[in-house]
Amino acid sequence: MASPTDLQGRHIVLGLTGGVACYKAAELTRLLVKAGATVQVVMTDAAQQFITAATLQALSGRAVFTSQWDTREPNAMPHINLSRQADAILVAPASADFIAQLAQGRAGELLALLCLARPVQTCPLLLAPAMNREMWSHPATQRNVAQVAADGAVVLGPAAGDQACGEVGDGRMLEAAELLDELVAFFQPKLLAGRSVLVTAGPTFEAIDPVRGITNHSSGKMGFAVARAAAEAGARVTLVAGPVHLPTPRGVRRIDVVSAQQMADAVLPLAPEHGFFVATAAVADWRPVQVADQKLKKDRSAGAPTSPPPLVLTENPDILAAVARLPAGQRPWCVGFAAESEHVVENARAKRLRKDVPLIVANHGPSAFGSEHNTLVLVDAQGATELPRGDKLTLARALVAELARRAPEVQR
Ligand code: CTP
Repeated sequence: MASPTDLQGRHIVLGLTGGVACYKAAELTRLLVKAGATVQVVMTDAAQQFITAATLQALSGRAVFTSQWDTREPNAMPHINLSRQADAILVAPASADFIAQLAQGRAGELLALLCLARPVQTCPLLLAPAMNREMWSHPATQRNVAQVAADGAVVLGPAAGDQACGEVGDGRMLEAAELLDELVAFFQPKLLAGRSVLVTAGPTFEAIDPVRGITNHSSGKMGFAVARAAAEAGARVTLVAGPVHLPTPRGVRRIDVVSAQQMADAVLPLAPEHGFFVATAAVADWRPVQVADQKLKKDRSAGAPTSPPPLVLTENPDILAAVARLPAGQRPWCVGFAAESEHVVENARAKRLRKDVPLIVANHGPSAFGSEHNTLVLVDAQGATELPRGDKLTLARALVAELARRAPEVQR
């Protein structure tokens, strides 16, 4: 979820064209405003058949523009004024007809006119197509979409799924929250463009029997935030996640695992194809030597109090240390996390040397697990630097900036 400052100071022109997905534009307006943006809504005639300007005015707090002949603008040029003020124009929904107009450079209505009149270097255009699947897959639409993309527009989606017409397929507009994430990501500096990041996240679960196991309180939030921040920064991201119920950040490839051994088996073959490895997972140190294939039952035969079954543990592979031991050329630039309950920096220093990694990110585990906020200390060969306390996404973005700064030599 975006924070209230993610779009602070951004002025967005939100264009609506004709389509049932106009109902999602109301929620999108709310989310953009909550993320700190000012939103100027512009609607085509067709959009007004689906939702009223009054709704969008109420949600955006600004009078909606619907016509190039709007007399409110002293110079009678709303297409110039609106496009000069905007940090971006987002058209959601973008209908097949509207995309066709853009492809041809037509300017019959205010919204198409201001897209054409926008300064392309400073005012990006983002389109969220929404239409029936046959319309989307029609060669004319595909041709037009390719043309507008070649002309510099950013095309977001569409998604596949149930459609208002009852059919199922490609053409659904992305959800409002997804469009917000896309816009927030769009504005992030592309510090890791061309780079790749492998992230582990969450706890692991070590089975005792089919219904019980050993795990910990890690929520996975920090690792998911790192994966999202790296993707926003332009990196190709693979996220290997233990058992958590968190949504996959947009654009991130996710591999779900349960146990530490499964996490190691997923990570080790992938590590050499990534430039960075960020190990945020709270991997269980030990697992039961034997996993019972049936639920362990209390033995009541003697009629006396039951004695618990012995739990014999063995050590799990150390994934971070194993990646850090890969030969040069196959070894990504490694970052470990250290969740400590006391002597945070001292323990992190020792862990960095033990695991032989350039950077350990230390935090106070008990107060960070499950929380939205965290305090991170970066521990490297030079010393310890504390990042300002913040929400996990803000910290993850700061960490991504540190990676880009500290490891400019990483080229993949
Ligand atoms: N880690 C790992 N594989 C393990 C254990 C830890 O990849 N089997 C990684 C974690 O993802 C983290 C770092 O190593 O990045 C430190 O994890 P932590 O549990 O704090 O360290 P341990 O080596 O387990 O040390 P200890 O539990 O004794 O503090």
